[in-house]
Amino acid sequence: MITIAILGFGNRGSRYAYQLAHNKDAEIVAVCDKKRALLDGATASYGSRVRTFESDEEFFAAGKLADALIIATQDRDHYKHALAALKAGYHLLLEKPVSPTYSECQEIAESAKEKGLSVVVCHVLRYAPFYHSIKQTIDAGLIGDIVSINDTENVGYWHFAHSYVRGNWRNQAESGPSILAKCCHDLDIIYYFTGQKSVEVFSSGSRKLFLKENAPSGAADYCLAPCPHRRECPYDVKKIYYGFTRYTYPRLIWHKRLITGKPKAKIKELREALKTSPYGRCVYKCDNDVVENQNVAVKLQNGINANLTMTAFSEGCFRRLHICGTKGEIIGVDAKHKFKLNIFGGPLKTVKTQSGLISGHLGGDAGIIADFIEFLKTGKVNPRMSFIDVTLESHRMAFAAEKSRESGQAVFIEN
Ligand SMILES: NC(=O)c1ccc[n+]([C@@H]2O[C@H](COP(=O)([O-])OP(=O)(O)OC[C@H]3O[C@@H](n4cnc5c(N)ncnc54)[C@H](O)[C@@H]3O)[C@@H](O)[C@H]2O)c1
Repeated sequence: MITIAILGFGNRGSRYAYQLAHNKDAEIVAVCDKKRALLDGATASYGSRVRTFESDEEFFAAGKLADALIIATQDRDHYKHALAALKAGYHLLLEKPVSPTYSECQEIAESAKEKGLSVVVCHVLRYAPFYHSIKQTIDAGLIGDIVSINDTENVGYWHFAHSYVRGNWRNQAESGPSILAKCCHDLDIIYYFTGQKSVEVFSSGSRKLFLKENAPSGAADYCLAPCPHRRECPYDVKKIYYGFTRYTYPRLIWHKRLITGKPKAKIKELREALKTSPYGRCVYKCDNDVVENQNVAVKLQNGINANLTMTAFSEGCFRRLHICGTKGEIIGVDAKHKFKLNIFGGPLKTVKTQSGLISGHLGGDAGIIADFIEFLKTGKVNPRMSFIDVTLESHRMAFAAEKSRESGQAVFIEN
């Protein structure tokens, strides 16, 4: 049996716990979170034998409690938590981004190497059937050599408002740039599909809507103050969090948990919390500063060009990919779980992939836990796994993109 401890039992930590509970070779033995109610939820779901800790100091002071640790705390805490965990001797499943500072990412990688421990980074898209199947198609040589990749990451206006205007990743100083927080997955997929490192990166991006000057006249600071614009405002908390819409309903459990800090809060408690929670704020009156749209043009080794567009302004939450090769092309939308495979002069095919929940990263959350446990148990490495030395490339591209956006200059990368 592989024993696992979890540090950070919020949205991500609890989802991994759910996947672990369905894995016959894994056992959750310890959970650490600052919120007592979440720890009580962990023991209620996974048994009273699970040891709980209310602070990271207390957790690390207890010594090595498991074979591996999942780190799912916030971005700026990963560095200190990863170094402490490696010192204690844990293998790690580390949430992305590794850190908002490239030198800290490198330090974690060096420390793991020095101690002979493994750090797998949660680039969950690699494990989703849609991306896995595209990778197999590319590796089988069906589209020849890749010439270019176009990837549009449609964040979704409601999702962007939740995470990047009101929520955890709204402010660079607190988390990091949105191109790192949101799109390190996309940059990783570009590297994963091509196997080629970046040599030149140019990027531009801006903020347009979520600005103080765009607040309608007389808008309240909180939707539930109440605000006179609630009926027409698409960002009203009822439409985003607790009304029965197609956005709110599938995410209700997670929103209740995040906003109230209780694992099983009632709608009434959610509504009450939104009167003062950061998630209840007017979207035009937050302390957000991350960009809402960004383009990144990357020149890769072997003359491959990749273009990534991240936008807040889409109705749905999905990625659209167009991969052009010398012998054919792949066109697909991940949330549709299928892609077109057009072989030049040959058959035009639609490849259907197994579906998975968007909220579970289209099946990626289940896949990464399965591979991680299998690796710890048998040493078998599934080629889709992203160990930290591989992850450094996606992060290096994101840092270069941000530097380019800020300076207006292309950034050249030496390999
Ligand atoms: N792989 C992905 O696609 C993906 C998706 C979303 C978020 N993330 C990343 O996962 C991480 C966690 O995000 P989340 O959405 O679960 O956030 P969250 O706020 O829901 O969870 C973080 C938890 O960590 C706890 N915590 C914070 N500091 C702590 C400390 N010092 N000691 C103990 N507990 C502490 C908080 O109380 C909270 O419950 C972030 O780094 C985020 O960027 C990754």
